Amino acid sequence: MIDLHCHYLPGVDDGAPDLETGLALARAAVDNGILIAVLTPHVLAGRWDNRRSTLEPAFEAFRRSVDEAGIPLELHLGAEVHLMPAALRLLETDELPALGRWHGERVILLELPDGGVPVGAMKAVEIMRRHGAVPMLAHPERNRSIMRDTARLEPFIDAGCLVQLTAASVCGWFGAPAKRAAHEILDAGWATAVATDAHNLRHRPPVLAEARHALAMRYGEDVARELTELNPLLIVAGRDEG
Ligand SMILES: [Fe+2]
Repeated sequence: MIDLHCHYLPGVDDGAPDLETGLALARAAVDNGILIAVLTPHVLAGRWDNRRSTLEPAFEAFRRSVDEAGIPLELHLGAEVHLMPAALRLLETDELPALGRWHGERVILLELPDGGVPVGAMKAVEIMRRHGAVPMLAHPERNRSIMRDTARLEPFIDAGCLVQLTAASVCGWFGAPAKRAAHEILDAGWATAVATDAHNLRHRPPVLAEARHALAMRYGEDVARELTELNPLLIVAGRDEG
């Protein structure tokens, strides 16, 4: 399986605090059946001032450490970009690491605020689309407004956004409302990928196999494979295009 959303890169956000934890997360991911992970540190101005130029050295050092530790996990650098005006400036200067490409366009993992859908969100999506980027909405099933009414996602789908659901939501570990919203999004055929959003071993571990199993039981093996292997692979393979 391929994980498009996780926080193993040490010391850059609220994920792994140190190298030891980062390596433990990478090992746990492999144990769970994950072969490729795109590391997605938070990019949030004033809180986590990450950008490509600051993240790349940290990423290369971590990748070397994972290799030296003999952990068979292919790593790539992405980012989880919070919706904010600064994000659009970073996009223009190519400082936002993409997950990969989808039909030739850069895929940017975009996080809406937890509480709701800001008025300017659609405008931001349009600007990103004009810059040749496709937003992949990070776990919309955990957004309180979308959780109450998943139809609020429809304009984003119409605008070409992709959707990442979090494995724990699909399994029901984030509660019934998040699970219900995740499955409504799946039923609508709007989900592109399911990922771990792993931050630590204890509360938010790198666990995807359980969600894959739940998907296979409810929607069939083809859907489970599409969301945990095929679509993520298409996106990661697109990194070579440019
Ligand atoms: Fe995340």
